[in-house]
Amino acid sequence: MKKFLAIIIAALFLVSTPASAETQQTGSSDTSAFALNDNIEKFYVTLPKAKGNYKSRLRPILIEGAMNTETEILVRALKNPVAYRDFNYLFVAGTYKNYPVVIARTEIGMANAAASTALAIKKFNPIAVINQGTAGGHDSALKIGDIVIGEKSIDFTAIKTAYSAAGAGSDLTNQEMLGTYAYDAASGKFESYKEFFADATLLKVAKEVAASHKEFNAVLGTISTANSWLNNIDYINFLHETYGSSCEEMETNIAAQICHTAGIPFIGIRVLSDNIIHNSDYVPESAITCQEFVLLVVEDYINSMSEK
Ligand code: 5AD
Repeated sequence: MKKFLAIIIAALFLVSTPASAETQQTGSSDTSAFALNDNIEKFYVTLPKAKGNYKSRLRPILIEGAMNTETEILVRALKNPVAYRDFNYLFVAGTYKNYPVVIARTEIGMANAAASTALAIKKFNPIAVINQGTAGGHDSALKIGDIVIGEKSIDFTAIKTAYSAAGAGSDLTNQEMLGTYAYDAASGKFESYKEFFADATLLKVAKEVAASHKEFNAVLGTISTANSWLNNIDYINFLHETYGSSCEEMETNIAAQICHTAGIPFIGIRVLSDNIIHNSDYVPESAITCQEFVLLVVEDYINSMSEK
């Protein structure tokens, strides 16, 4: 009887699970994010371990990505990479174009992004932070592989909803943006920020890279963050129309919040990996495009610093 029940439950699970790229988990030809992440992990464990604390004459550039698939190209681009682990968060330090660069694998979601960013700021004292990786489209004009240069970011769950009585439904669109709290140097207090803006120099460099590298379709936009994955197209359209949201993901606004508090220049750069508006499933390889674009931004940022 127990066995029979187990078969029924397993069958129900299979029927209710969509065959998206994300849910295929086994097999040698498996290109799901899970399988790709596992393969990259085999490379990451071979990286030499750092001995002692990080030392660098120049303040490094910190580049963040939540998953192995979102950091591998960056890590492979480093010269003399060494791995640091702190609270089980991974950081890989090395040089890129002869300038110190640290890659942080933040892990997925808001709390992890906050912890990893704060740890990295303490450990490495970065001169600038770029949070990058995959995102779901909120703009019907965008397709998989397009890049959103985050002019600003928001936390789309930092809201207060209007009152509605029991039984009146749960329409969330009647809402007020509350924002998230970051340190404001002018007032000397933590204040609420409805949005965080990209650092002007990082934004300028990213725009120049977009203009001179037409192989990327990179647009300016608003990156929306939450520990959520929306499939409700009406709500996505509401976020797009109300806040100008270009895409959704789970880390940018949190990293921006921590960097604002620490007074460190920040930008978020995201690639569209999925777009429910067009019914497009998650494509993990899109993360490669984002990292390639970010490396160009990093190179030009390094050059802009040496010109000063
Ligand atoms: N919604 C939320 N997060 C997404 N990500 C990619 N697409 C989406 C989406 N549609 C990113 C998040 C997180 C991981 C699940 O992928 O930033 O790190």
